Amino acid sequence: MQPIEIKKNVYWVGALDWDVRDFHGYSTPQGTTYNSFLVLDDKITLFDTVKKNHSSELLNNIRQLTDPEKIDYIVVDHVEMDHSGALPEIVEITKPEKIFCSSMGKKALLAHFHREDWPYEVVSDGQEINLGSKTVRFFETRMLHWPDSMFSYIEEDKLLISQDAFGQHWATSERFDDQVDQSILMQQAAKYYANILLLYSPLVAKLLAKVTEMGLVIDMIAPDHGLIWRTNPGEIVKAWDSWSKQETKAKALVVFDTMWHSTESMAEAIAEGIASAGVSVKVINMQFSHRSDVATEMLDSKAVVLGSSTINNGMLPRMADVVSYIKGLRPTGKIGAAFGSYGWGGEAVKLLKETMEEMQFELVDPGLRVNYVPTEDDIERCVELGKKIGEAVKS
Ligand code: FEO
Repeated sequence: MQPIEIKKNVYWVGALDWDVRDFHGYSTPQGTTYNSFLVLDDKITLFDTVKKNHSSELLNNIRQLTDPEKIDYIVVDHVEMDHSGALPEIVEITKPEKIFCSSMGKKALLAHFHREDWPYEVVSDGQEINLGSKTVRFFETRMLHWPDSMFSYIEEDKLLISQDAFGQHWATSERFDDQVDQSILMQQAAKYYANILLLYSPLVAKLLAKVTEMGLVIDMIAPDHGLIWRTNPGEIVKAWDSWSKQETKAKALVVFDTMWHSTESMAEAIAEGIASAGVSVKVINMQFSHRSDVATEMLDSKAVVLGSSTINNGMLPRMADVVSYIKGLRPTGKIGAAFGSYGWGGEAVKLLKETMEEMQFELVDPGLRVNYVPTEDDIERCVELGKKIGEAVKS
């Protein structure tokens, strides 16, 4: 994809990855982009690079604007390999005067590439550098989502280069937020937040409060993945603010796996009960769904209801996978309930309940178990449980 000028003398020079389908457990059915930005000023500066196998696209884009050897500075806002994989090759070609990074960034770069000889220049929170006509201010964003992470803010352009923050894993030929379907864009942004940032929500909230307190004027947000927010960057900041507070809607999520359709029948009856209470409900059968879509749906759900048949004294493997995954994301303020069919033992419901207790979910029921195949009375009990969940969501 061709370079695009996003602000005067600031160019997107990144790469599109139409093919990537998995980002260490996060499904990316629409691929992603690795955004990199080149500033043409007295000091020609490159902000972040791309994944190693996309370095030629980055170099081709740079060459359309300048000779890569003329690059003076490289800024590493985030060391993860999707942004630094091409760095050794780029450093070799450009021989930069300085590589700007945070203190943790330098440590991470050394641990990744073992190059003591690179011209690191560690910057502190709030430090500014002058490129000629443009000034760059750095903000440490430690643990958002790696220890090394930082933002770069070009003051004259009111441009925030935000590395992973405010990104989306979505490969598109368009580069700006206003060029794509808004509902898909926000869904992609929500998926990104739910799967990558939810765990760090308290830090996100603090960062957003700090940005507000500083009165930073932001005209454009350029993340390292996905679309650039130029039309209304305030909208994505507002969404992040809501997600970081784990604000929910009157919505319930029922997630299950089933052996011989009995737990499935229970899930459907529970969902019917929830809906009859006037609460929106989403049902996810893990046989056909991905854990990262569960995380996305969980983001704004007030209730999370988990069901599994029992196998080998435990829960079905797909449920164990998704439960472990969502527990790691540390959702807060949820209502929960567990259910499932069993033949003997019936440990799955107990295990699901215990996990939800560990996540400090407010449980509305001690756990609903049905022996083998549900009777009409059992199904009615499931509907009643759904109604109880629905009422709890509304209260
Ligand atoms: Fe896009 Fe955390 O790397």
